[in-house]
Amino acid sequence: MIDYSIEDNIAILAWNMEGYPQNVMNDHSYTAFVENMDKAIADPEVKGIIITSKKDSFFAGADLKMMREMLGKDHSQVPVAEAFKESFKWNEVFRKYETAGKPLVAAINGHALGGGYEIALMCHYRIAINDSKTQIGLPEAQIGLLPGAGGTQRLPRLVGMEAGVPFLLEGKKVDPQAALKMGLINELAADQDAMIAAAKTWLKANPNAIQPWDEVKKGQIVARTFYKVPGGNIQSPKGAQLMLPGTALMWDKSKGNYPAQLAIMNCVYEGLQVPMDKAIKIESRYFITLLNNPVAKNMIRTLFFALQEANKGGARPKNIEKTNIQKVGILGAGLMGAGVAYVTALGGMQVVLKDVTLESAEKGKDYSRDLLKKGMSRGKVTAEKAEKVLGLIQTTADAKDLEGCDLIIEAVFENRELKAKVTQETEAFLADTAVFGSNTSTLPITGLAEASKRPDNFIGIHFFSPVDKMPLVEIIMGEKTSEYALALTIDYVMKIRKTPIVVNDSRGFYTSRCFGTYTSEGIQMVAEGVSPSLVERAGTMAGMPVGSLDVADAVAIDLAYKVMKQAEADLGVKIEDQPSGAVVKKFVEELERFGKKNKKGFYDYPENGKKYLSPLLNELYPLAETQPTIEEAKKRLLHRQAIEAVRCLEEGVLRNPTDGDVGSILAWGFPPYTGGIFSYVDMVGVAKFVAELDELAAKYGERFQPTDRLREMAKNGETFHGVKQTAEATA
Ligand code: NAI
Repeated sequence: MIDYSIEDNIAILAWNMEGYPQNVMNDHSYTAFVENMDKAIADPEVKGIIITSKKDSFFAGADLKMMREMLGKDHSQVPVAEAFKESFKWNEVFRKYETAGKPLVAAINGHALGGGYEIALMCHYRIAINDSKTQIGLPEAQIGLLPGAGGTQRLPRLVGMEAGVPFLLEGKKVDPQAALKMGLINELAADQDAMIAAAKTWLKANPNAIQPWDEVKKGQIVARTFYKVPGGNIQSPKGAQLMLPGTALMWDKSKGNYPAQLAIMNCVYEGLQVPMDKAIKIESRYFITLLNNPVAKNMIRTLFFALQEANKGGARPKNIEKTNIQKVGILGAGLMGAGVAYVTALGGMQVVLKDVTLESAEKGKDYSRDLLKKGMSRGKVTAEKAEKVLGLIQTTADAKDLEGCDLIIEAVFENRELKAKVTQETEAFLADTAVFGSNTSTLPITGLAEASKRPDNFIGIHFFSPVDKMPLVEIIMGEKTSEYALALTIDYVMKIRKTPIVVNDSRGFYTSRCFGTYTSEGIQMVAEGVSPSLVERAGTMAGMPVGSLDVADAVAIDLAYKVMKQAEADLGVKIEDQPSGAVVKKFVEELERFGKKNKKGFYDYPENGKKYLSPLLNELYPLAETQPTIEEAKKRLLHRQAIEAVRCLEEGVLRNPTDGDVGSILAWGFPPYTGGIFSYVDMVGVAKFVAELDELAAKYGERFQPTDRLREMAKNGETFHGVKQTAEATA
């Protein structure tokens, strides 16, 4: 567990957990840590202690197995005293060793994250190997937790509140150089040997090192009653100046939806006013409140486990050998094609970027040139790297150049006939093993595959705009798409380091279909006389990244119009009878207000000023006498999306709720605190969700109607993520 050795009167404790790829915090490592530290402290020959690792990373944080157990546990049933004992145990020993009278150095080789960096914070000095792959940070807040082994107390005491608090709230990770600049570490070393040598030198020079928040009184190391925090204490005018706007900013960003951020602020505010021994107890108490809150479980389930699984290509058919994609052809060098070319070349693959003219294809390549130039000016990309990436992109107007491509990604205009034409033109040059993927946003894949000679090798590869920033790729299986085509496509998505979800064919697939309900419900509310600003505020207060009207403008109202017209043609539902249809029709046909793109939509976009909700809305749709409460409006916007996702699952568009959760957060920003759209339903409680949908359906229309299966789930106390609920508990 820990390799113990003594050199030059210095004990070296090197973490080396057997059976674990990385060193992690769990009961075994706790016992080993205490044993080895006690031994080193008790040995009179040992004058100082170095904590390092034998693995290629220092220490990774909490044990995943432990976190999985946490997901299934009802923490509210654990007696408070027991919960506190468990929560406080690392805090307690870290405090014991930092005040034990022997100097401690953390020698950080590789990642020091979460609990790993908290071990380093317990030490009196921190040295890290200068390696850009190494990351240092306290990412707990990103999964709804707080650093619970002293991180919220030692970090701001070390670097001050101004730098420390945002670092804690955002859960950022930094490389060793940035860590040195911020004061997270004290020194850089070239390699392991140099680091150990530097650690020994420091220990010899600082035999009586203590933490700055401690002092020696009557020969004992004790916590200072008053510690001067760098940059100002909470009680100082400077500190108050930081804390007040900081709290306001935190509320503005979290809208009260993220208990971890609030708990971190409380830990800092309360903890920094008391001596360290008390401060860590405050932290441990707040940690327990987070364990009892569903948000942490939701975020861990989706943003940790599910995301990790998806990023490893978990949906890839296991029986198919790994493919070797070297050359990718991209048809259409417009907005999407240009972005796909960039991420593909960045993934190390050769790209043939084809458009109708060489000039258009070159214009598409300019997108990569611009992004790389920007990267170079920020020092993030070297000139050699930029040259290499650009060298991988060949532009052309000749389909013959697509010969030898392993994968084609089609991103020409959204037009069925054109897509059929380019499919046939391209397939003439492709090997039998090549896969043809369409980036269509709306056209069913099975229909498009009819133009193909090899529909089994035809698949949907749906990117999101802007391609270089958006992390998700929605892979769509047509009726005839083979497992081989899926495997190759997932291999490709892995190479470009994006997250794939796999769905079955349907109108709007999964993401566009559910996201569309958010915009249309918001617009529909305006049509009913709900205040547009209330609609927008309800969206962002619920945790959506932007309001319904705002995002409808950004995506383009005429695009929504086209989608609705297509549904009218294909399904026979008149546009006026679709939710929000009458408004969208009016805005496009009569008013020519298309959104941000022509600078007039639901918002007005003045030439030199900030956009604002157009007064036209109140003229066209006078305010109703009674307005819904913000809670009712929030519920309406979130439930509407969620019931659509439930239908996608029941219709087999989604293969499982986990993909639905990951996709909802990554594709259209469904509030991360919910853990995604199905975790949201579980969090509300299926029975309560059904009852609320019934109310919404009675008031606003049958699109809210719960499905029979959902009613059955409510009756049986079932949930989407397998945690049984009692019907009474959720009703
Ligand atoms: P765009 O209009 O920016 O680009 C289309 C490009 O295709 C143009 O450069 C055009 O010259 C080229 N093109 C037309 N005929 C061609 C041919 N025969 N051979 C090669 N190139 C040809 O369109 P955009 O926005 O890039 O969309 C492309 C596809 O991606 C569409 O199917 C769209 O529905 C889909 N999509 C768009 C998203 C968006 O946010 N814009 C998001 C996801 C998918």
